[in-house]
Amino acid sequence: MYSSDEDYFKLLAEKPSVIKNEGYLSISFIPPLLPHREEELRLLAKQYKHLTNNYLNFSRYATITGPTGSGKTTLAKRFGQILENVVKIKNFHFIYINCRIYKSPYLIFNVLLQKLNKNIPQRGYSVEELQHFFVKHLQQNKYKLLIVLDEIDYLVTRTGTDILYSLLRIGEISQDQYVSYIFIAKNTNFLKLLDTSTQSSFHSNHISLDRYSESDLIDIVRSRAELAFYKETVTDDAIRLIADIASKTGDARYAIELLWGAGHCCDNDNSPVVYPDHVRKAKSLIHPELRKEVVLVLSIHEKLTLLSILRKLKHTKNAYISTSDAISTYRLLCEEYGEHPRKHTQFWSYLNELSKQDIINCKLSGKGMKGKTTLISVPDAPLAFIEDVILKSLTKSKGEVSQKKEVG
Ligand SMILES: Nc1ncnc2c1ncn2[C@@H]1O[C@H](COP(=O)(O)OP(=O)(O)O)[C@@H](O)[C@H]1O
Ligand SMILES: [Mg+2]
Repeated sequence: MYSSDEDYFKLLAEKPSVIKNEGYLSISFIPPLLPHREEELRLLAKQYKHLTNNYLNFSRYATITGPTGSGKTTLAKRFGQILENVVKIKNFHFIYINCRIYKSPYLIFNVLLQKLNKNIPQRGYSVEELQHFFVKHLQQNKYKLLIVLDEIDYLVTRTGTDILYSLLRIGEISQDQYVSYIFIAKNTNFLKLLDTSTQSSFHSNHISLDRYSESDLIDIVRSRAELAFYKETVTDDAIRLIADIASKTGDARYAIELLWGAGHCCDNDNSPVVYPDHVRKAKSLIHPELRKEVVLVLSIHEKLTLLSILRKLKHTKNAYISTSDAISTYRLLCEEYGEHPRKHTQFWSYLNELSKQDIINCKLSGKGMKGKTTLISVPDAPLAFIEDVILKSLTKSKGEVSQKKEVG
C-alpha cells in the first residue's frame, strides 16, 4: 500500500521504463532521419532550389500524394525544418497549414495573415479582402514563403476549387513572386477539378509516395526504437512483428503507435524487454482506423452528434439507427453538456460533415421499411473506443469553458 497519493505518483515516476523518451513516439514528432524517404526529400530540395539559391523572383508549386501513413506530412515538415536552417533569404517563412483544421478559404487567409503577425478583426471581411490584405502585406515586407497546404483534397471537396485559384492567383496580381506551395493530398483527383492549363502546371512537380513495405517498416520502427527506447530493450522479433502487422496497410503511423503501445504493455508487465507478446497486446488496444486527431478537431456540436449516434447504436445493439433516433439522443446530450441544441437543418449538416470525413456512413433505407429514411452506421473502430476519445475531448473543452468563465 502507498501511504499517500503523492507517494504513489512518485513511485510511478521512478518505476523503471523501457521508454527513454516518450516524445520521440508522439505523432507530432518529426524524426531527423526518414528511412525510405531520402530520395523524395532530395527531389523536393531540387524542386525548390530557388529558395536555397536566392532566385528571388520565382514561384513553384508541387503536390505530394500517397495513402495514409505514407509519410506525406512528415516529409513536408522535415523539408521545412531543413529549409529554415539553410535558407538565407531575408524574411523567408515556412508555413504549414492543415486544411482539416482551417477548413475554409476564409480561415486559410486568416491564419496566413496571423502567422505573418498581421492581426485583422475576426469578422467583417470577405475572402477577397483578406486575400488583398495578404498580398499587400507580402509586398510591404517582401516576404518569401513556402506554404504547405496539407489535406487540400479535404478542403477542395468541402468548399470547391476557389481556394486553389485564389492562392495561385497571388503570383499573377503581385508583380513579384513571393509564394511557393506544396499541396498534400491522398491522390491527384482534386486536380481534375481545375481547368486543364492549371492542371498541367502541376504534372511535372508531383511526388507520389507508395505505401511502406514490410522491410521499409522494419527500418522505420528500428530507427524510432533506437531514439525512444533504452539500448537493447526492444527485441528484433517485436520489431518484425510490428512491421508485419502494419504492412497490411503500409501505415507507418500505425507501426509507431504499436511500438509505443508495446512499450507500455512491457512496462505494465514489469518486463525489462519488449517481446512480441507485448506487440500482440498493443494490437488489441490500438485501432488505426480511427484517426484521433480527426475526431478531436470536430466542433462541439459535431462531437455531440457523433456521440449521440454511438450511444444509440450501443443502446439498440443494431448496425444502423435512423436520423430521428440520433436527433432525440443529440438533444438529451446537449442538455447534459449545457449546449443549446441546434435546429434540424443544422443537425443534417453535422451528419453530412461526419459522413464526408468517413467517420459515419449514411445510406437511404431500402425495401422493407416504411417510407424513405436515412440510416446511419459507424463502420470502423469499436464504438467504445471512439466514444472514449470523444468523451475525453468533451470533458477537456468543458473544463476549458468553465475555466474561461472563472477567469472572466
Ligand atoms: N520514413 C519515415 N521515417 C520515420 N518515420 C516515419 C516515416 N514516414 C512516416 N513516419 C512516421 O509515421 C507517422 C505517419 O506519417 P505521416 O507523415 O503523418 O503520414 P501521412 O501524412 O502520409 O498520413 C508519423 O508519426 C511519422 O513520424
Ligand atoms: Mg498527413
